[in-house]
Amino acid sequence: MRRLTVLSPAKLNLVLDIMGKRPDGFHELRTIFERISLADQIILSRNKSSKITIHCAHPDVPRNTGNLAYKAAEMLSRDFSVPKGLDINIIKNIPVAAGLAGGSSNAAAVLSGLNRLWQLGLNNAQLVKYASGLGSDVTFFLYNTSYALGTGRGEQIKPLAIKTKLWHVLVTPRVKMYTKEVFARLKLNLTNKKDNVNILLPFLRNGDLMRLAGALSNDLEPAILSLRPDFYYLKRKLLDAGAVGVCFSGSGPSVYALATSQKHALSLRAKFDRRYTQVFVVSTL
Ligand code: C5P
Repeated sequence: MRRLTVLSPAKLNLVLDIMGKRPDGFHELRTIFERISLADQIILSRNKSSKITIHCAHPDVPRNTGNLAYKAAEMLSRDFSVPKGLDINIIKNIPVAAGLAGGSSNAAAVLSGLNRLWQLGLNNAQLVKYASGLGSDVTFFLYNTSYALGTGRGEQIKPLAIKTKLWHVLVTPRVKMYTKEVFARLKLNLTNKKDNVNILLPFLRNGDLMRLAGALSNDLEPAILSLRPDFYYLKRKLLDAGAVGVCFSGSGPSVYALATSQKHALSLRAKFDRRYTQVFVVSTL
């Protein structure tokens, strides 16, 4: 095989509970991931050079060794002594540094794609080990599941057998937010902490959208709003437009609304000004 195309979807966090700060500087999380239909495409092609080259038309995607997709390929090529000669073509649809884990998903797609292209014969547990060294959000994308519970740094994944299909409007302001910066602004208040994961799960399982809407939560919201207080109005606007619930994804700035159907999501999207934001209708994948 010379060439392989892999889909690289984004995620949303339906709940993001921060349990505390760890000695290694990371935060202990409990999160519910949802895989969504907004996706990049990654084309992996062998070539006769001895280099790994990243190609991407999007100006904010690093074309150098700092790209997680590059790091993923480099690790496998080193550990399995594969002659590098590889073009990684990223067709970017997922906004960059937006709380949607696009870069992490690209890295996971490269790991599983190269496992096939280079016929490495790695099992999922071995791929997960590589993924967790790359970033906290990478491992989720190696599980073929719509929803999962993430614990630890977010890298310990328990797939959830839930069939509910959700529709969302996803609004991403044209502003990048760096996870590290958002976490640095976090003021931990762990008294009377609610178990938001277990509050939400039964509503998600039963497709009870009204209660699900009320159970969406993200402990990073105060930190995101401390960087950009005006994003409060984005949430407000979505609710005023008729969303049943709204929440930030990951470390922001993406905000998503829960809609009752595709039609409802399309009508919400129509109310948004595209000059300052990117607006997508997405569903559970
Ligand atoms: O793992 P990842 O590279 O995505 O994390 C980026 C940054 O976000 C980390 O350097 C850390 O500052 C912060 N982070 C954290 N706790 C987590 C995940 C990320 O503090 N569970």
